[in-house]
Amino acid sequence: MKRKQNMTKITAIITAVGKYVPEDILTNQMLEKMVDTHDEWITTRTGIKERRILKGEGKGTSFMAIKAAQQLLDKKKLDPKEIELVIVATATPDMQAASTAVYVATEIGATNAFGFDLEAACSSFLYGMSVAAKYIESGRYKKVLLIGADKCSSMIDYTDRSTCIIFGDGAGAVLFEPNEEGLGLQDEYLRSDGAGREFLQVKAGGSINPLTKEGIDNKENFIFQDGKTVFKNAVFNMADAAVKILERNNLTNDDIQWLAAHQANKRIIEATANRIELDSSKVMMNIQNYGNTTSATLPLLLADYEQQLKKGDNIIFAAFGGGFTWGSIYFKWAYNS
Ligand code: UT7
Repeated sequence: MKRKQNMTKITAIITAVGKYVPEDILTNQMLEKMVDTHDEWITTRTGIKERRILKGEGKGTSFMAIKAAQQLLDKKKLDPKEIELVIVATATPDMQAASTAVYVATEIGATNAFGFDLEAACSSFLYGMSVAAKYIESGRYKKVLLIGADKCSSMIDYTDRSTCIIFGDGAGAVLFEPNEEGLGLQDEYLRSDGAGREFLQVKAGGSINPLTKEGIDNKENFIFQDGKTVFKNAVFNMADAAVKILERNNLTNDDIQWLAAHQANKRIIEATANRIELDSSKVMMNIQNYGNTTSATLPLLLADYEQQLKKGDNIIFAAFGGGFTWGSIYFKWAYNS
């Protein structure tokens, strides 16, 4: 008779968090002097008070990703040679063709790792959590570093009031490791719809419209957003994904300790919290300090709330972004700080 093997299910937990935001602050008052806007409009329509901007020649997304990763390594006292995979979730890679993650891995000393970038606009980090978790759950990898980093200021026209008030720069890093207590990623509901790409995009610089002088003259190297359409889709889909993940895991709002939602607009985050009837005390929020940092919003939330998180806390992650891309992840936190 064959002996039954005692196989414990491996789940993927987050065991460390790091962050970096640039020193330079762009406040609403400073924007009032640059475009036709005012603090009250920005605050009530978006919840944003200030954002960070990465300045300095030769500094790109990798600069912030490396700093966030280094903070994580220092906090965890981890030898970077133990890291096996580095994923950089970003919509603003350092450059085309050469992966930002590969450069980051080398710079932090993760010489035994391979790396790649993951691009899904503002859902990049959420999708990255799914991917990182799969490598861990397979049993083949023990340490996966996932970084969400974006230098949004590199694609902003600071004379366009409809976009320049929203975006900021930043980076956050998390370490995924295996767990046998059933903690970490429990379930995910991830979706996309290509019909959305005309509403949020950078027209020039890709393979359809490589960058030309004419493209620059027409400001096609900057982000274009049909804010109203994106807003409507974000409100509906992010909330819908959160509801779906709760329903199919038989969770009620009482079972949830935290909502970690993409920080694009305070009103979108509140709409999602309202749909799942979650008290505002359970809603992570730092949009007032950083604006929309695209792929960095979720890990920046984790870094800012790390001290309040407890082992076993149920967190609902949710995001919506260009593409369109969106989804929700049900996650059990694994440590007390
Ligand atoms: O992270 C990726 C996904 N992105 C998002 O989720 C962003 C989704 N969209 C939004 O967050 C919002 O649509 C915005 C914050 C971009 C805009 O807010 P809104 O409430 O949708 O404003 P609106 O575009 O409908 O504009 C309302 C009014 C307009 O004036 P009129 O036509 O009513 O006279 C705009 O011209 O506000 C005006 N406006 C501004 N006024 C002062 C637009 N931008 C500004 C501004 N300052 N910066």
